[in-house]
Amino acid sequence: TAEDGYALWLRYAPLTGSAKERLDQFNPVVVQTGEADPSVKVAEEELRRGLTGLLGHVPASSGGSPIVLACNDGSSGARGHFNVAAHQQANGRSLLAISAADSVGCLYGAFALLRELSLGRDPATVELAQAPAMPLRMLDHWDNPDGTVERGYAGRSIFDWWHLPEELSPRMIDYARANASIGINGVVVNNVNASPLFLTERYLPKLKRLADAWRPYGIRLYISVRFSAPIEVGGLKTADPLAPQVKAWWKAQAGKLYQAIPDFGGFLVKANSEGQPGPQDYHRTHAQGANMLAAALGNRGTVIWRAFVYASSGETDRVKQAYEEFKPLDGKFAPNVILQVKNGPLDFQPREPFHPLFGAMPHTRMMLEAQITREYLGQATGIVYLAPLWKEVLDAPTGHGATVAQVIEPTGMAGVANTGSDRDWTGDQFDQANWYAFGRLAWSPALSSDQIAREWVGQTFSRNPNFVRQLVPMMLSSRQAVVDYMTPLGLAHQMGTGHHYGPAPWVCTLDRPEWNPCYYNRADAEGIGFDRTRSGSDALAQYAPSVAAQWADPRTMDENDLLWFHHLPWSYRTQSGKSLWDELISRYDRGVAAVDSMAREWQTLQPYVDHERFVDVASSLAIQRKEARWWRDASIAYWQSLNHLPLPAGERPPE
Ligand code: GCU
Repeated sequence: TAEDGYALWLRYAPLTGSAKERLDQFNPVVVQTGEADPSVKVAEEELRRGLTGLLGHVPASSGGSPIVLACNDGSSGARGHFNVAAHQQANGRSLLAISAADSVGCLYGAFALLRELSLGRDPATVELAQAPAMPLRMLDHWDNPDGTVERGYAGRSIFDWWHLPEELSPRMIDYARANASIGINGVVVNNVNASPLFLTERYLPKLKRLADAWRPYGIRLYISVRFSAPIEVGGLKTADPLAPQVKAWWKAQAGKLYQAIPDFGGFLVKANSEGQPGPQDYHRTHAQGANMLAAALGNRGTVIWRAFVYASSGETDRVKQAYEEFKPLDGKFAPNVILQVKNGPLDFQPREPFHPLFGAMPHTRMMLEAQITREYLGQATGIVYLAPLWKEVLDAPTGHGATVAQVIEPTGMAGVANTGSDRDWTGDQFDQANWYAFGRLAWSPALSSDQIAREWVGQTFSRNPNFVRQLVPMMLSSRQAVVDYMTPLGLAHQMGTGHHYGPAPWVCTLDRPEWNPCYYNRADAEGIGFDRTRSGSDALAQYAPSVAAQWADPRTMDENDLLWFHHLPWSYRTQSGKSLWDELISRYDRGVAAVDSMAREWQTLQPYVDHERFVDVASSLAIQRKEARWWRDASIAYWQSLNHLPLPAGERPPE
């Protein structure tokens, strides 16, 4: 039912068959610890709720196998680590112990146990020992105080600033449960294009109410701040980071925040980017701006400074600008500043090579920013499972002695949230999987896309092995499908300007060169692609030599990034033996065919899915089939208007 969409992966649907028999036999009893710790209470509550769902009745209160929480077990290690293990007691009954050094670890252990049980694992053999791979696992909301969400496709904001602080929607607790269940421990509640309202007295009690509600779930609250807020809401004449009155103002703001919210996380800042104010307005560097805010927070919190910057310029390739601006600042940031870098150097495209800043600033703490909301990937229709996209980046060797995952592990990972007030939270059932996958990868980048999909499908839809076996491969191939029908072979940013939804490769007349899709495709009668080698923009030189070498030769490189780095004639022979033109068309066709096959396969899965969600997904796939054709046909028609080449012979997938 629609209720199930709301419950996300925390459905706890009754077990059946042998899994049910095993859990019945085990007969779990949640032991009350009597501890006043709010996180332990929440863990007990969640265990009771989860077991009630899985068993199909309220768990017994005595006489069964006790589940014991030991949340101060004296162990050391990463905050949030836990162990779950079953032991045989003298009386012959089993006992399940969840142990951790702190109460949040216990809560994570409880959720991990419920996940295992939800997937049908035998409680008597559960054995888990886990620790988060990175300290910061964050969601960034691009939500505005008026309830709109920038790049949000799931309805209005889930944050009801109007009714806060008096009214706290129960949704805020379900949100915290969902996050805690995957280990998310930080939330930025407002848009990086930040309203200064969040730094006013009026908003402080609202923020405090949320922070108090989320604390038991191990979630710290952060806000995005507008660099010029001292002028807009502080009544000052300047926001120059070196001006004493500006420093004092930020210090006072931080003081008020910490008085209300003792564990306040800190500030996220978008500065001197896309019209946002910043230190450069006063001829100060990013480091000077960030360090001033860092001093205001002191050792209580963190400044997360974004590296997403680019200026209008005909000369500098847009993808080179962040590296050019930040690389010289390596070692100049205060210890409580983190530089947050998008996965790729452009902007959350269906595929981009990893950002050259990863590994290139060894004296700077760096975290990765991923986008869970699908701004450039069809928004909230169809199935596009993003774990493979993120894995591709995390697993990439930077050439500086570490993979991207290894570079960010000491720090963390942020995902731009895809939540909204839609009943299913994310606008589309399958987009819940992207929220889930983001959290799981931030917890452990070593998990495979396949494993995460299996977990999600089993908890969210059905554990039936036939269902899982059919659905998971569909999810796994869905990302390459969207790359193929939108921007195959390394093309990028071909989406319509502003909305970023449909195709617009022909647009070439906008004021700023890098706003135009034609800037990125560089297509003409002779060829297509962006030369980023030495003969072109030389963006390739920003990568470590071993990595740059991989992409330097179009004949040997991974063709998934071909036109990102090279401008080639339409007649160029690709690795398949086809001409570039024919290869391009076969990729568009492959994308369309993949969506058709997802839609067909989904029809066969009806017996496993409740009616509402079945229809919901089927309709969404029908839209995706149209989108795929729209992208392919519009793109090919435009390329043909330039090169006048015929379509290769062969079958097109039917309408
Ligand atoms: C993209 C997006 C903007 C957003 C920006 C950012 O350009 O389209 O809406 O503000 O990224 O990450 O700051």
